[in-house]
Amino acid sequence: MKTKTILALYCAPNKDSNSATLLDYFCEGAASKGVQISKLYLYDLHLPYFDYNNRLAEPADARENVDLRKIEALMMSSQALVIASPVWDFSVPAILKNFMDRISYFARVYKHQDSMRKQPNLDHLDCFYIFTTGAPWYGWLFDSLAYFHTKLTFWYFGSKNRGLLRAHGCGNGSTNVVKGRPALLAKARKKGERFASKYLIQE
Ligand SMILES: Cc1cc2nc3c(=O)[nH]c(=O)nc-3n(C[C@H](O)[C@H](O)[C@H](O)COP(=O)(O)O)c2cc1C
Repeated sequence: MKTKTILALYCAPNKDSNSATLLDYFCEGAASKGVQISKLYLYDLHLPYFDYNNRLAEPADARENVDLRKIEALMMSSQALVIASPVWDFSVPAILKNFMDRISYFARVYKHQDSMRKQPNLDHLDCFYIFTTGAPWYGWLFDSLAYFHTKLTFWYFGSKNRGLLRAHGCGNGSTNVVKGRPALLAKARKKGERFASKYLIQE
């Protein structure tokens, strides 16, 4: 049996962020089931904003496309994608939105030479999402716009949405508060174990 791979996407600026910690625990749980993990920190990558010159990531060796081509290779060879991100202004950070914009050249493609309509191309990916928030309770409903938008986009790309872990009360991002919440860390680890068992190690 071939080892399956989860691509773990870290979307907060800080490597010690709350969302990163939860993703680390999720990955630890999944790895305990024998799944391989590839980690990508969005803020480490060179991904200029989408425009009509870089929309097809050509030429592949141009500075603005090299990291994107690496992402493409990783996404096409992985079986799962787990995105961990803070909610910013009831949406996702611009860097994650730009990631979704820039991958669209391979996320939806013309499958046949004479086809007129693009089709989803990420139907091999099972997706899981981890979102951290800092607003008071009356902001939580609006925070769900961020999850909805991200899940909708990956559904449009053909992927399967397999779950969501939300962590409220994560402050303003300057401090890691989740490290002091053992029940939440255990929950993230358990979610990783379950995700791997259910979707990645059936055969
Ligand atoms: C620019 C900015 C905008 C934010 N907007 C929201 C928001 O709309 N809703 C919310 O619940 N929290 C908001 N927050 C709080 C973040 O969600 C919180 O800092 C984050 O979840 C902390 O997790 P992290 O360590 O993973 O970044 C905002 C924070 C920043 C810096």
